[in-house]
Amino acid sequence: MKFLIINGPNLNLLGVREPDIYGRQDYAALVKFVEDSCVENGVDCELYQSNHEGDIVDKIQSALGVFDGIVINPAAYTHTSVAILDALKAVAIPAVEVHLSDVNAREPFRHISYAGQACLKTYAGFGFEGYKMAVEFLKNHIGG
Ligand code: DQA
Repeated sequence: MKFLIINGPNLNLLGVREPDIYGRQDYAALVKFVEDSCVENGVDCELYQSNHEGDIVDKIQSALGVFDGIVINPAAYTHTSVAILDALKAVAIPAVEVHLSDVNAREPFRHISYAGQACLKTYAGFGFEGYKMAVEFLKNHIGG
């Protein structure tokens, strides 16, 4: 079983960026955490981060026939991108949405998720742990 883990814009600045909201650990620490979570679950994974909407769309399209599941934190594109929603719908690979922060407890514009409408589940507000929860959920959902 192979999962694609996608992180959207500004998540490469974890640790530097608004640490009171996103924590003090950097993106490399997130990568290690997610890779370890996948190893624990016996799942192969590839992590991808981009600050560019079209690149994320391309990556989702290229997942067809390659990955069994997608874990995605579209970051700011969560609240704006119909293109990412459509890409997830197009490939129809089981997907789970993750947010480090509790988006529903923040500004009203963060309460809307386009990508989430193509996802089986959303974990928000659990920090890094949300990615592990998403991997576990997807693994059980797919039945490995
Ligand atoms: C985020 C929440 C988004 O609203 C924000 O734009 C991000 C990160 C999170 O992980 O909490 O960049 O997706």
